[in-house]
Amino acid sequence: MNQKISPRGNQHYKISSLAEKPHLLEKCKEINNSIIQNSKRATTGSIPAYEMKSEASMKYWDEIFVEFPEYQVLLYDSKKEPEVIAVGHTVPFSWNGESEGLPEGWDGVLETAVTEKRKGITPNTLSALFVMVNPDYQRKGYSVVILKAMKQVCFQNNLKWFIVPVRPMLKVCYPLISIHDYVNWRVPSKSNPKELVAYDPWLRLHYKLGAKFLKVATKSVVVRASIQDWEEWTGLKFFCSSDFVIPGALSTVHFDLEKNEGVYYEPNIWVKYSLESSVCL
Ligand SMILES: CC(C)(COP(=O)(O)OP(=O)(O)OC[C@H]1O[C@@H](n2cnc3c(N)ncnc32)[C@H](O)[C@@H]1OP(=O)(O)O)[C@@H](O)C(=O)NCCC(=O)NCCS
Repeated sequence: MNQKISPRGNQHYKISSLAEKPHLLEKCKEINNSIIQNSKRATTGSIPAYEMKSEASMKYWDEIFVEFPEYQVLLYDSKKEPEVIAVGHTVPFSWNGESEGLPEGWDGVLETAVTEKRKGITPNTLSALFVMVNPDYQRKGYSVVILKAMKQVCFQNNLKWFIVPVRPMLKVCYPLISIHDYVNWRVPSKSNPKELVAYDPWLRLHYKLGAKFLKVATKSVVVRASIQDWEEWTGLKFFCSSDFVIPGALSTVHFDLEKNEGVYYEPNIWVKYSLESSVCL
């Protein structure tokens, strides 16, 4: 049973980087694999596997473990080591601090970070790529611990800004709604019903921890693949050229039979943390 406990109740959790605990790489990848799921099993607590088929992801994702182990955060139970509770993937890059100067989204920041590292460019900004909480530990508040640790990585490396291309968790339930509308949906706060807060729980959490909206990234992750690939990934058949609702996708996927391709643009929301404000548990 999924016991609802506060991470404060667990005195044994510890945070390290992958550089400090390289032997936890396999455990870290196990968490990745438990979250990155076949889209037929997509839930609000998972990422569909086809999302990792963007050009940037296929080219650069594995590089983050080699190029940036000190920027991969692990939360683990010291009593049960190597039981990894959650992982936080981040990359450093250089940014001018302006919304217009941001990479297009998740793909863009991953590619920028790896290529800049190879060119020897000094980073000044940390971008989150993923927070992944082990499914056995989800909905217990651990995501806050990882976000706090990511911010710490920013301080330790003398980086000026911490930004996140937020993948809004419940957008998957509203693939036909424009991200520009979705981002403005508000509901009364549970603790103070007079206050309106973001509808999406993951976006709401970032705002609660002090993040500020920067801009919408309509093409944050771009997956372009053949119809055959999409049919294999989704278990569906695409009989005509049209927009389709696909399990796990935050927006529709456009299929063009003549071109033999389906294109998915995943929308995310760029937010920025002020490093002055502390992220409180
Ligand atoms: C998103 C994720 C990191 C949240 O981690 P978590 O530790 O389970 O989340 P928390 O317990 O800290 O909850 C944070 C908020 O999200 C809500 N939430 C968490 N999982 C949820 C779910 N599956 N469906 C709806 N709401 C959910 C919580 O209720 C809480 O909102 P509240 O404070 O208003 O009640 C986790 O679900 C996960 O690893 N998902 C897969 C990867 C992913 O989507 N990462 C985020 C994009 S990078």
